[in-house]
Amino acid sequence: MISLNGKVALITGASRGIGAATARLFANAGARAIVINYHSNRAAADAVRDDCVAAGADVLTVRADVGRASSVRSMVGKAVERFGRLDIVVANAGIWKGAAIEEMTEAEWDETIDTNLKSVYATCSAAAAQMIAQGGGRIITVSSTAGQRGEAFHSHYAASKGGIISLTKALASELGPKGIFVNSVAPGWVDTEMSAEALTNRAERKKIVSLIPLQRVATAEDVAGPILFLASDLSNGITGEILNVNCGSVLCG
Ligand SMILES: NC(=O)c1ccc[n+]([C@@H]2O[C@H](COP(=O)([O-])OP(=O)(O)OC[C@H]3O[C@@H](n4cnc5c(N)ncnc54)[C@H](OP(=O)(O)O)[C@@H]3O)[C@@H](O)[C@H]2O)c1
Repeated sequence: MISLNGKVALITGASRGIGAATARLFANAGARAIVINYHSNRAAADAVRDDCVAAGADVLTVRADVGRASSVRSMVGKAVERFGRLDIVVANAGIWKGAAIEEMTEAEWDETIDTNLKSVYATCSAAAAQMIAQGGGRIITVSSTAGQRGEAFHSHYAASKGGIISLTKALASELGPKGIFVNSVAPGWVDTEMSAEALTNRAERKKIVSLIPLQRVATAEDVAGPILFLASDLSNGITGEILNVNCGSVLCG
């Protein structure tokens, strides 16, 4: 019943983790074509490409630093040149680094804000131009519980994710009249390389899990499912929504 038949999707940061799980799920849901963006991990991106092709999707793999607007514009241009349109964009790529505020350098602040927040501006801007021209589309951003309640020693990360939430709501009102849906998924802890350092420490993991009502950490596939829902016609009445995918760890809207 849930189907992306005939749709063209672009996913940033699709070489690993949530982005990779989303690309595979989109291919299995019948997407016609998928643009797989990566930054440095070509081998991982190629493995995702092979799985998507095996599921029947046409795939374009593009290396681009999402923190640079010109790279993102060029990537979106390549996608439209190859597939003729762009129906779904998932602004997912991100980094999670730690630093106490009194020691955080300007370079550390800029790296996180550029990669996590400027990237979403750049992706939405380039995608919106194409989607307005073609009469509609769907944008899904990937924020975080950190953007809702803050996160000590990751203040740049929390600020970037709070920015994504506001940007998502602003663009939902701005682009709704043009047939473009803009929603966000806000994951809590997810088992990916991003969180591996904290989650492979047994004592740390036990402490984290003890605070989660479902008593487990989400998988990348747990997050990809709601992204697919927001990318599909089953969510036709939803825009500007922040959909929590956190196994109950943060109960806010
Ligand atoms: N994991 C969690 O616990 C968690 C919780 C809440 C929110 N999130 C959010 O979910 C999203 C995905 O996270 P994840 O856990 O799947 O992370 P991950 O496993 O570390 O994967 C990150 C992805 O982003 C790409 N990327 C990083 N910097 C990039 C850049 N400058 N340009 C283009 N691509 C870049 C990576 O590409 P390469 O492979 O080429 O490096 C990779 O594909 C992020 O926005 C993250 O903040 C994650």
